[in-house]
Amino acid sequence: MTMAYVPGLAGIPATESAISYIDGQEGILSYRGYNIAELAEHSSFEETALLLLTGDLPSEDALNSFSSRLADNRRVKYNIRELMMCLPATTHPMNMLQTVVASLASFYPSTDYNFKLKDEDVNGYIKDVSEKILAHMGTLVAMWEHLRNGYDPIPPRKDLSYAGNILYMLNGNDPDPDWERLLDACLILHAEHTINASTFTAIVTGSTLANPCAVVSAAIGSLSGPLHGAANEKVLAMLEEVGRPENARHYIEQRLLNKEVIWGMGHREYKTKDPRAVILQKLIEKHVISKGGKLSRLFETAIAVEDVCKELLGHKGVYPNVDFYSGILYKEMGFHPASFTSIFAIARAAGWLAHWREQLTNNKIYRPTQVYVGDFDRQYVPCNQR
Ligand code: COA
Repeated sequence: MTMAYVPGLAGIPATESAISYIDGQEGILSYRGYNIAELAEHSSFEETALLLLTGDLPSEDALNSFSSRLADNRRVKYNIRELMMCLPATTHPMNMLQTVVASLASFYPSTDYNFKLKDEDVNGYIKDVSEKILAHMGTLVAMWEHLRNGYDPIPPRKDLSYAGNILYMLNGNDPDPDWERLLDACLILHAEHTINASTFTAIVTGSTLANPCAVVSAAIGSLSGPLHGAANEKVLAMLEEVGRPENARHYIEQRLLNKEVIWGMGHREYKTKDPRAVILQKLIEKHVISKGGKLSRLFETAIAVEDVCKELLGHKGVYPNVDFYSGILYKEMGFHPASFTSIFAIARAAGWLAHWREQLTNNKIYRPTQVYVGDFDRQYVPCNQR
């Protein structure tokens, strides 16, 4: 029986998963049954990553030992740094990350593994390699901020949290606790999101028993597209183009008239405001209030754009997604806009690795079918007669 082709596989289940859940009508996202609002408020990225990887909130001892193993794995080999230095300084952080994560399979040959899918692999090899990749992601992104500007990277520190170390490696100062908490919350909010394009890429790649560096590298490539992770970079450019709140209506109307998408708006799964955008917006507001300051022009512009979009696109179920507010925060933390998506990738590596592990524990290679729409029975004509 031939099934109807569904473009973009919209609404087609492609796997069974116990990792996260979305209720797109109510605007709910949970990881392993825990609402992300609660995790963003009370958890840490390390704890959330472990929850995603193992299925349960860890004991204090398990969390401490996971956090210190991540910290121990932060340093990258000298030759990896050399490899990064060979890349043109103009290399986009996502291209750097995809390249360097793929190369980890050569620097750590044990990552090029022939899976036997035994129980001890899950608690041994799969655990170890997941920690190695996860720990390296933050270091690589922070290193590239300096290398591409011609400076030596700042070596990682073991005594800081995952988020704190990224901020430290970015500017060399002890991280501001407020920014550290905000970045930690951003990492939690971006860590997992059911079977989106990059996660699907990860599980398809994993299903061939490719090595985990190839799995994560492939997923990074998928995330780099502007319809997926790179929207946060586009949002910032768009808000800067809008300039000020009073320009929002004219700008959005013109864009829609030209049939251009509004970056950071709309989602295949959510027909209401993305719960991650709700939390991020609140975090920004709380941060601004705690600093006794007034909202930045960029943030005020974002709110005006959201209001206009609600009026013009709300009837289509198009509301802000996670990328709408994240760029504003990252910019204020000191990240260059080109690095925004790579911060997303650092966090999402936790989700990709959890899905990779889940895939391997009940693996079947992905090999869907297609609807052939080409020609049949054409006759070959030699080149000199065409
Ligand atoms: N700006 C303007 N219109 C939008 C829109 C946006 N950002 N997102 C969706 N729409 C409109 C579509 O034009 C379509 O209108 P129509 O029914 O009149 O043709 C309708 O809403 C349905 O959108 P569709 O493109 O079918 O949704 P999708 O599920 O295929 O696409 C996205 C989802 C995320 C790719 C899409 O919303 C988008 O391109 N958003 C901008 C990029 C972005 O922020 N990506 C990050 C996602 S986390």
